[in-house]
Amino acid sequence: MEVVIVPDAVAGGELIAETIAALLSRKPGALLGVATGSTPLPVYEALAAKAASGAVDVSRARICQLDEYVGLPAGHPESYRSVVLREVVRPLGLGEDAFMGPDGAAGDIAAACAEYDRALAEAGGVDLQLLGIGTDGHIGFNEPCSSLASRTRIKTLTRQTRQDNARFFDSPEEVPHHVITQGIGTILEARHLVLLATGEAKAEAVALAVEGPLAAVVPASALQLHPHATVVVDEAAASGLKLADYFRDTYAAKPQWQGI
Ligand code: F6R
Repeated sequence: MEVVIVPDAVAGGELIAETIAALLSRKPGALLGVATGSTPLPVYEALAAKAASGAVDVSRARICQLDEYVGLPAGHPESYRSVVLREVVRPLGLGEDAFMGPDGAAGDIAAACAEYDRALAEAGGVDLQLLGIGTDGHIGFNEPCSSLASRTRIKTLTRQTRQDNARFFDSPEEVPHHVITQGIGTILEARHLVLLATGEAKAEAVALAVEGPLAAVVPASALQLHPHATVVVDEAAASGLKLADYFRDTYAAKPQWQGI
């Protein structure tokens, strides 16, 4: 696992957008897995700016969702389908045909989950999966004690996560209890995992995920199993890392052509 400490969220967004741009220049039809929430917004802004300036051609990129609320009415502005269309797909000038996600309004949720895992595999697998991290260490919506081998399935959000996400809804009670999330096993199949964490509220979860033992109680620690995982953190989110100086030295000495 590589840990890159950046000065702030904007620098993190720029670094990851550059990485995505480099991927798209090697593989124009790459499948990009995107997360929702506040953290990845600087990535999407930086990537859209690169696309608008002609620095990268995103016209053949494909986008896929990491997770989705269960039970929100179709078209609800906070369904992750709506969020990804609004924050990623449209700003990049892509159409809905370039986008795939699980159906949180399906009558048969178990079948929708299995169908999404199949669709990801049929699409050739995810080339780069962008991840955030919950204050409880979740990735996607794999809450603590999720199986490290899990596949896309329905999960129940913890009280903490519902509270953390209440800011997106008119009232805390409106946050759905259930979600569909790519499983940890599904996420680990992406070719490159890039986790972005910013702000002090994420420092403890980042330290446990990066330097703690591999444990289902800290789902993000599963990145330790992946051959190409990059954790990009700002100074505040890095504040709990014992090896911060080593991570800084390693990145400073890294040949630039390697990228992240
Ligand atoms: C959202 C997702 C979640 C978030 C995490 C952090 O698609 O998968 O794991 O990344 O809850 O959310 P923010 O970035 O809002 O702190």
